Amino acid sequence: MMTNTVVSSWNDFDPLKHVIVGRAENACIPGWEPALEAKIDENSDMWGIWGPRPLDTAEKATAELDYFAHVLESRGVRVDRPTPIQWNQAAQTPDFSTKTLFACMPPRDVLLTVGREILSAAMMLRCRYFEYLAYHPLMLRYFDEDPLFRWEQAPRPRLTDDSYQLDYFKDATYDVLLEKTHRLDFVTTEHEPLFDAADVMRLGKDIFCQHGVTTNRKAAEWLQRHFPEHRIHCINFPDDPNPIHIDATFVPLRPGLIINNPVRNLPDEQRKIFEANDWEIVDAALPAHDRPPPLCYSSVWLSMNVLILDHKTVCVEATEVNQAEQLDSLGFEVIPIPFRNVYSFGGGLHCATADVHREGECLDYFPNQVPGTQIRG
Ligand code: ALA
Repeated sequence: MMTNTVVSSWNDFDPLKHVIVGRAENACIPGWEPALEAKIDENSDMWGIWGPRPLDTAEKATAELDYFAHVLESRGVRVDRPTPIQWNQAAQTPDFSTKTLFACMPPRDVLLTVGREILSAAMMLRCRYFEYLAYHPLMLRYFDEDPLFRWEQAPRPRLTDDSYQLDYFKDATYDVLLEKTHRLDFVTTEHEPLFDAADVMRLGKDIFCQHGVTTNRKAAEWLQRHFPEHRIHCINFPDDPNPIHIDATFVPLRPGLIINNPVRNLPDEQRKIFEANDWEIVDAALPAHDRPPPLCYSSVWLSMNVLILDHKTVCVEATEVNQAEQLDSLGFEVIPIPFRNVYSFGGGLHCATADVHREGECLDYFPNQVPGTQIRG
């Protein structure tokens, strides 16, 4: 049956009409696998434990996710939810096995919407290889309901040991990691295209990928061939020792305005394309918290991980008062959303969602191209 489902989104700030909000039920802490040290810091309370997260934390996160979905619906946004599979199960392919799966939080890591297409990302962690299955019922439905919807899947990686530098974290102090990041030497190799969708920032005709732990340059090259009408750029934030996902680092707010994590600056050379097209890059406000909640993969910079509803309206985590104040002073109506209990499940308000439909067209925000970032520059 045809309904009014439309899959179309070209950026993160045009008016939001339809979104997927993740779910926390039965989410698992993964067992060790190559590269996990990048996601779970050596001091983390998650080392040595794996399997289902404590039930009470999943219940609190679920309540906050449900409330967020409710607020979005009350603003006229259609909200869909994934269908969790049994995350607490071992799985294997011909190339690897994993003790558990992960969760259908955060959807932003898996689903990349570019125009009329939703592309399931390759995913660089073994425990997340089968996560796309939670979105399969929604993709089937959109496929039936929107005759122009392009349902795509990136090449499935093999994720053998060839995809990782197995000795990367051996004796690697913070300074050693920083030095490696400055050299663009990451735990992930260039053996095959690997990317998580949350490393990809869409700005109309230009698509900016963070090259780091979860996304390699081969993936940027693959994305360029896959989206020939777009210009794919690789950008880096060398002061982040474990660059995983761009949306707590570099966040566009509306056409011409981006907030940048002040401890993860975009290098001067890579700023030029923004400057040449009159985009302003401002430092994001400091987080309100000095540490993340327990059992959390992310940093305090989830403060920046906001969901924009339109050029004047933004959802911000309710306790992130500094970020809220900054957005207010930049002219936004700020909608506070209690979400700190969701942080531990993989991210904030942007991570926890995936675009299905935003109004607007594919615009060229960067008519003045300058060398430095473009993969085919
Ligand atoms: N990796 C990002 C951060 O923790 C989400 O800041």
